[in-house]
Amino acid sequence: MARILVTRRLPDGGLEPLAGHDIVGPNDDDRPYTHDELVAYARECDAIVCLLTDIIDAAVLEAGAAASLRVVANVAVGYDNVDVATAAKLGVTVCNTPGVLDETTADLAFLLMLAASRLSSEAEADLRAGRWKGWGITQYLGRDVYGAQLGLVGYGRIGQAVAQRAEGFGMHVWYHSRTDYGHAGYVEDLDRLLAESDIISLHCPGGPATHHLIDAHRIAIMPPHAILVNTARGTVVDEAALAAALHAGHLFAAGIDVYEREPEIHPDLLSAPRTVLLPHIGSGTIATRTNMATMATGAVATVLSGGVPPNVVAA
Ligand code: DGY
Repeated sequence: MARILVTRRLPDGGLEPLAGHDIVGPNDDDRPYTHDELVAYARECDAIVCLLTDIIDAAVLEAGAAASLRVVANVAVGYDNVDVATAAKLGVTVCNTPGVLDETTADLAFLLMLAASRLSSEAEADLRAGRWKGWGITQYLGRDVYGAQLGLVGYGRIGQAVAQRAEGFGMHVWYHSRTDYGHAGYVEDLDRLLAESDIISLHCPGGPATHHLIDAHRIAIMPPHAILVNTARGTVVDEAALAAALHAGHLFAAGIDVYEREPEIHPDLLSAPRTVLLPHIGSGTIATRTNMATMATGAVATVLSGGVPPNVVAA
């Protein structure tokens, strides 16, 4: 029987693959463990099942590897919160949850695209606050999603799932990514894609390589009628620069699900006009979150029984 730290509450059924093991955590109020707590638990556990709110850095991994830590499973497809290079050096396997959240996250990207384009958050807020005094032909004039040029930044599974939906909306899709997947619409020059798209949706991974990929300069390249959607990672966008552009009317609108310093949101973004803000719910359906949890815990069970799960990002 192995000892496994589960850092946060999981959806019902998420722990089933670990039946028979000794589970430590989560704490009663589901707060993220402190760094010191993670280091201490790593020293006494064979596995860690963590969320993207847990920073699994070199100190945590070294403390664990010096004892019996063998595997870290991140219940997310993104793993920029885990120091995979150090894990690989120490021989600690790291797993993520690819494949099970693509469609759900693509749905949310579309929701943001539609809501931002049609100004639905502002319109609903006015209605709820009693500010709507009746129909007017010049009210809440949004922009059409139908027929728009959609620029995807990142074209992995989620980007491709968004492209599929966009076809049904009669959009014109092109994409920029590190890899030319050989699909029609590849653009090598990111700046060109940004300058000539009506809607830009981000689907690249987080981490140092994409930190502030969308900075003030690149935001300035986008046309003033453009709409920016981010369901990838907050760190991909310079949040202060985005907020400044929205306040200045340089961008038409934005739909954002992820933030640079979650759960903190830049105050200028909170007050920005024509901006739809959601609390990182891209994968948030019962089925998808349950699948993510069982995929991560299943991977831990596999590693602990000497196997190799399919979802390994470092070993
Ligand atoms: C992920 O999996 O990386 C998402 O951000 C959370 O579902």
